[in-house]
Amino acid sequence: MAVERILAELKALGARQLAEATAPPKGMYTSPDILALEQERIFGAGWLCAGRADEIARPGDYMTFEMGPQPVILVRGKDGAVRAHANTCRHRMMPLVEGKGNASRFTCPYHAWTYGLDGGLVAAPHMDRTSCFDKKELSLAVIRCEIYQGWIYVTLNGGARPVADMLAPLTSVIERYGQEHYRTIFTEEHVWYTNWKCLTENFMESYHLPVAHRETVGANFTVSENTFGEAGDEDDFAFQFFTKTEGAPVGRAHPANDRLEGDWRRTSVMPTVFPSHMYVLAPDHLWYLSLQPDGVGRTRIRYGAALAPEVMDSADDSLALIAEKKAFLDKVQVEDKHVVEGIFNGAMSPLAVPGPLSWMEQENHQFARYLARHLCD
Ligand code: FES
Ligand SMILES: [Fe+2]
Repeated sequence: MAVERILAELKALGARQLAEATAPPKGMYTSPDILALEQERIFGAGWLCAGRADEIARPGDYMTFEMGPQPVILVRGKDGAVRAHANTCRHRMMPLVEGKGNASRFTCPYHAWTYGLDGGLVAAPHMDRTSCFDKKELSLAVIRCEIYQGWIYVTLNGGARPVADMLAPLTSVIERYGQEHYRTIFTEEHVWYTNWKCLTENFMESYHLPVAHRETVGANFTVSENTFGEAGDEDDFAFQFFTKTEGAPVGRAHPANDRLEGDWRRTSVMPTVFPSHMYVLAPDHLWYLSLQPDGVGRTRIRYGAALAPEVMDSADDSLALIAEKKAFLDKVQVEDKHVVEGIFNGAMSPLAVPGPLSWMEQENHQFARYLARHLCD
């Protein structure tokens, strides 16, 4: 399908009410032209979640992140601030570091140009005969980076609205959880064979929980009681609430949690920060995905979880607790992988036609409107 036709259908879909809405045209998931447009107008313009600030808690702690083709170093400076720099040497463009660690400076593995934690070039051997060499002009490129409630967001768009402004209506709802104090228990990178939007949409709708997740998360609450947060038509986020049953083994506040009161003690919020940061914020834990497309049918996923501080502090055996939580979430991931890779294959099939949405898929329709706002002229 031509890209103009896909965008015209997306625009028409965005203009419809939820009760009249279907899933987006399948070309949205399969067209390389749509992906190129998304790379430019969505991933090149919006905020991406690079992980959690407590992953680099001490001065000198760093970790790497890929923003599409742009490699990034996230580092905690001596002053305690988190900064992001291009992970690209100013000499002949070698990436400086991989993975995560702690460093007092970054030395390029190619010819040993060395940069401080602030990104400034501090040493470069055998450059004394080069007249166009000026250390001051050769700092690592700065990338915009903001911390919001413990999350690290980065963008290549100098004009993007500050994260705290963009998410202000969400902040008043979620700040009671104190998620910036939750402690990260793991972070992993995965590749799934699906379009990135299949994953965003899957995460946002609870309709599949009693079916695809009947063995895991589906058992602990009544999805038809889920409610949606107030997000306006121009907002680049969506969220919903779900309340756990009294006997649910996870998702309820620890007795030592003095931040949450009443029904909040068994209520989780599920925010999605468009385009691709989704998380479950529960009274006792959180878990998240941050996505980036790597081709029409390939998605890179940063997947991680954190536990509320009182949950960690009261554990007799914190390693066993972490292993148990991770095993549970991994099982949920396996269930989701099966369906999101399945629906991508479905979208590739000639006879597939996108069908009507349930009211439980309200956020999917909000997401279609977001896509229409950013992709259609
Ligand atoms: S490319 Fe980094 S020192 Fe040469
Ligand atoms: Fe799921």
